[in-house]
Formats: sequence, structure tokens, C-alpha cells
Amino acid sequence: MSIKISFKKSKLERTSANLVLFVDERFDIKPIKKYISSLEYSYISDLLKTSDLKKKLLVFNLTSKKKIVLVSIKKNIKNSEIENLGAELYGIINPGKNSEYFINTENTINNKNFIGYFLHGLKLKSYEFKKYKSKKETRLITIKVLGRKNNLSSLDQIKFKALEQGTFYARDLVSEPGNVLHPDEYAKRIKSLKKYGLKINIYDQKKLKRLGMNALLGVGQGSIRGSYLVTLEWKGTRNSSRPLAFIGKGVCFDTGGYSLKPAKFMEDMTYDMAGSAAVVGLMKNLALRKAKINAVGVVGLVENMVSGNAQRPGDIVKSYSGKTIEILNTDAEGRLVLADAITFTEKKFKPKFMIDLATLTGAIIVSLGSEYAGLFSNDDKLSNELIKAGEKVEEKLWRMPLHKNFDKLINSKNADMQNINYVGGAGSTTAAQFLQRFILNKTPWAHLDIAGMAFSKYGGALNSGGATGYGVRLLNQLIEDYYE
Ligand code: BES
Ligand code: MN
Ligand code: ZN
Repeated sequence: MSIKISFKKSKLERTSANLVLFVDERFDIKPIKKYISSLEYSYISDLLKTSDLKKKLLVFNLTSKKKIVLVSIKKNIKNSEIENLGAELYGIINPGKNSEYFINTENTINNKNFIGYFLHGLKLKSYEFKKYKSKKETRLITIKVLGRKNNLSSLDQIKFKALEQGTFYARDLVSEPGNVLHPDEYAKRIKSLKKYGLKINIYDQKKLKRLGMNALLGVGQGSIRGSYLVTLEWKGTRNSSRPLAFIGKGVCFDTGGYSLKPAKFMEDMTYDMAGSAAVVGLMKNLALRKAKINAVGVVGLVENMVSGNAQRPGDIVKSYSGKTIEILNTDAEGRLVLADAITFTEKKFKPKFMIDLATLTGAIIVSLGSEYAGLFSNDDKLSNELIKAGEKVEEKLWRMPLHKNFDKLINSKNADMQNINYVGGAGSTTAAQFLQRFILNKTPWAHLDIAGMAFSKYGGALNSGGATGYGVRLLNQLIEDYYE
């Protein structure tokens, strides 16, 4: 079922309309009296006496057709809490037929973007991926915003919309199955983002070979599809300041290669390109809202397959950095793709910082579950900014350690390093240590291991299950708060 939500500014047209009305923490309904009849007023007053006022949303079914939803808002409510209320409202109004709701704008405490955040939360929660259902049902939920006060400026509207479209684009990419979104198709889709003003460069196998990106190429060599490195550039300022760089793991499907994964849940590995999807979604968002910064997205697109030509355990490859890698486990492929992408990004763009996102290790799910992404960084300032931005949009990060003693664990007898460690545990950290070896010029860098965050089986506050789009809102907030 697909749902369309349209927001319109309006007057209350008729007394039979559904209402969403904001009240204070004590559910004082006097200030909203003008929207309801005196009969409704006394009916609700009565019911409120026995209602659980700790709940933030109370629903009153006045007739079989008319609902009044009271939403209580506390003083100093945070933007993310407002978003969550909007998402909660979606849960209430979702089951049902076409419907129309009027929403008031008073009592929304001097937050000029209150309605914006509220509807943003509702919108994010309403996303569903139903492309491959033959039966398509469309249902229309219309939300009409009453009154003039507190309405969004057009600039803020553009920002919310861009962020929704960026997030949904990332979710769409992650939701696509491996047979559809293979590297060839993925590269094509990214190319189509040119129309938003992004400069797209596609490096195909031939070019990558010439550049010497053998770590990336080795992962994709067993696939009948191509391997790619794609760059997306956004120039939002006239000056030539160093860009912010975002790098994403785009493993369109990860079988593990010859270090084959077990059958059960291998299907989940269609989301092994979620890091790259967050980067692509972020870049789309920046272009749509014409962000006043220079930024570059770099994604490595490959498919980790088994075939007569696939990489073997024990193979040694020479990376773009010149460093050699002994492949002890073909399932530790994400770090190989990122290694070349990181060195390339640093050399080509000389960025202010590099942030990479990757569904890199199962071990990070053991440590942090689906609550926090793992953050590894060589820079305290960047780390703190990321953590703060993450708290604001509830895409949380937990900083994990890097240390030379972990780094030692990936030294190899036969090459400069090996792609896994057999002793010492700390699987997420040794993966991060591996990545750090490919920064050659001390550029501030952060690695976000999002294996536990990219996909949600049961849904979260702002998603209804499936791809979350984790990272798009986080990095947008980082840029807005510290770099724009
Ligand atoms: N894509 C996986 C990591 C992953 C696991 C993501 C579960 C999402 C859910 C990655 O390529 C991988 O296979 N990592 C291995 C590394 C190991 C071989 C050192 C892992 O975590 O088991
Ligand atoms: Mn793997
Ligand atoms: Zn993987």
C-alpha cells in the first residue's frame, strides 16, 4: 500500500473533520475550544479524567468517522522529540481508508519549525518499499495545517523536503534486491543524479586497473558485473575551499566469496551497500537544498561473488596506496574496497576531512546492537561534532578505540598487511585499523561502522521496518551545525 501525504495550509472547513490538536502537558483543552463543539468539549473533558495523561497522544473516536487526537507537548521539547510525536501520529492515522486531518498550529511553543519537525517525523515514518508488490494500493492521507502562525518559511520547507528525499533515496537503494541493483545498474542510477547539479565521475574497471586500485578490483573480480568507483561532487560555494569528503562501502551483494557465508540470512547482504547509499542520499539532499559548502561523495561499487575468476584466500594484491595486502578471508571485503577509496579521495580531493560509512563488521552488532553505530576516528574535534549531531537527530554514535597494539595484529608475514586478524578479537577495531593505514597524509578521518543501523527488522521511531537510511540525517546535521 502506498501512502501519499499532502500538506496544505487551510481553514477548518467543516465540523465533521478529523483533528490533531496540540495541548500542554496537563492536557488543558481550553485553548483549543474554538475548534470543537461544546458537546465534544464536555465529552473529551470527561474522558480526560480517566485517561492516562502520561501518554503523549490521546485518541478520541467521536463518531465512526471523526477522530480527535490530542498531542501533549512539554516545555523545552527537543526537535527529535517533536519528530517522534509526528511519527507516533502516523501509527494512529495509518490503518484506515483515505483520510483528511486538520492540524492546529497554536500552542506549539515558540519553536517556529514545530510543524515542520512534526510532519517531517510523520513523513519519515510513512516510508514503505512496495515496488515489487503486484497489487498496488494507493491511499491518500491529507494533512491540512490550520492558521498562519508558526508556519514554515519556504526555506525550511525546502530543507525538510530535501532531507526526506535524500533519506528515501538511500532507503530505496538499500531495499533493492541484488539482482536489480548490481554495480552496473547502481553506477547508472548515480549518473542520473547529474540533473540536480552534481558532477558525477564514473571510474570503470579499465580506469581502475590503470590507476592501480587492485584492492577494490580484487573483490569484484568474481562477478559478471563491473566494478566501479564513482565520485559525486557538490560545489555550493564560489570559493575553492577544500571539500568535505564522504566515502561509502557499496558491496551490492556479499556472498563472502570463497570464505562463503552460511545460507541462513545471506539474503541480508543485499544491504551491504548501505554505507554508499547514505553517501549518495546525502549528496542528493545537499544538491536539492543547495547547501553552501563544497562536498564530495566517493563510493566503491562491487559485488562479492564466487566463480572461477573470484579471489582466493591467500591472494596478495597491491592497493592504490602501493601497500600490499594478503587476503586471508575473502569475506573481509568491505575494508579492501574502502582502502582504495580512502587513499584516492585523500589524494585527489585534499578534503577538510574524510568520513567513511560501511556495514563493515558483524562484530559491531555484538558490541552496540541497533542502538549506536561504531565511531572510529583519528580526530577528537570531528568525533565530538559527529556525536553531537547524532544525538540531535537520533542517529547515535559510540566512539570506539584505536591503538597501535590493535594495529600490530594485522601485520602479515608475506605482505605489508593481512585483511583479518586471527588473534586478539576486537574485530571492528582491527577493521578500522586496517582502514587507517590507507590515510597517507594525516587527514582528519572518521569511520562509521553502520552494520547494526542500516536495516531494522521491526522498525524504529522514524522508520517502519526495512532500510533506515541511517547516516543521511546525521551527516546533514553535522554539515548544518559545524560547516555551513
Ligand atoms: N558485510 C559484512 C558485515 C556485516 C555482517 C554487515 C552482518 C551486516 C550484518 C562484512 O563484509 C563481513 O563479512 N565481515 C566479516 C569480517 C570477518 C571475516 C573478519 C564479519 O563481520 O564476519
Ligand atoms: Mn563480507
Ligand atoms: Zn560485506
